[in-house]
Amino acid sequence: MSREFAPIEALPEWNGLPPLLTDEDGNEIKTPAQWMNRREALIRLVEHYMLGQGPAFDAPIKGQVIKSERALEGQAQLDTVRVFYGPGFQGHFDMSVLYKDDGRKKPAITWSLFSYTGPCPVERELVLERGYVLCSFYREQMTPDAPMKTGPAQAVYPEYDWGAIRIWAFQHSLAASYLTAQPYVNPDALVATGHSRGGKAALAAGILDPRFAVTAPNNSGCGGCGNFRYLGTRDGLTQDPALTESLGRIAHVFPYWWNQTFQTIGELNPPHGFKYESRLPFDGHTLRALVAPRALFSSEGLDDAWANPYGSQLSCKAAQPVFDLMGVPQNNRLFLREGPHQFGETDWRALLDFCDQQFSF
Ligand code: GCU
Repeated sequence: MSREFAPIEALPEWNGLPPLLTDEDGNEIKTPAQWMNRREALIRLVEHYMLGQGPAFDAPIKGQVIKSERALEGQAQLDTVRVFYGPGFQGHFDMSVLYKDDGRKKPAITWSLFSYTGPCPVERELVLERGYVLCSFYREQMTPDAPMKTGPAQAVYPEYDWGAIRIWAFQHSLAASYLTAQPYVNPDALVATGHSRGGKAALAAGILDPRFAVTAPNNSGCGGCGNFRYLGTRDGLTQDPALTESLGRIAHVFPYWWNQTFQTIGELNPPHGFKYESRLPFDGHTLRALVAPRALFSSEGLDDAWANPYGSQLSCKAAQPVFDLMGVPQNNRLFLREGPHQFGETDWRALLDFCDQQFSF
């Protein structure tokens, strides 16, 4: 067994966040090509200790429009698309694809939702007005958000140990496979987004699937753009797992979001303080950096203490040298706003502004 895949308690402790631009033999990463190799090695670690293994992001799909209608007072086209996936195309889920049929190839946003009700009119209108395609889907069609359940995706792919976060990330990839084949989509301008647990899934999608030009987790916190080693509020570091979600807490309450190995890292008993976090060979800064050189836009509410506004800022800062090395310093963006845990109009507008710059609108 390579030393990286050793049991967590056998790994060396890091003093602070583990370095990004040093490889496992202690050599400095000095070139973009070296980072791309380092990135692959780090992805293997994130899979091993946290997300689990899953199918290739570009596994074959079939898409079928099962309903086609006009929406938003006739301004837009709304397709309900059934996406079939897996061996024999035995799995499926449905997604809504909203777009203007104006003959142009447009950027497209994939959005993992909490419920069947779909995007509210504000987001639909805003996204459409700004010239984007909005593709939304309900994550529980892939696997339920509940403990000890085996969902449709695990039934289709029984060989993988992926947790729900990786399964929901894969749903973004399945959506991307459909969208990139559509005449109204610019395949070089795909965006993955989602809120909270959906933000963790959007971040995993952006790490694992290089077709996403922009990865946009919203209030993703623990297991997302937050930080495992450093917990804090808008006022600073507290290291208080009662205020800010710790690794042990998320592993205990949502074990099915991750693989089995993730259960061995944190303190599973209340109050879920620290255990082996200092030995973990990655942290939130790594998850951000793994998107580089593509763009990462995360948004955080300063009053969202549970999602670690302090640690999110730390992760962003610590990831920056990787984006600098890749020659894209502007691609590591943290949007900090006043307010609580929500994906509201302010976040959407900021995301669209960022995407406009990326896609040079
Ligand atoms: C819980 C969980 C968070 C998660 C959030 C959400 O609060 O602890 O990790 O982000 O639910 O998905 O809304």
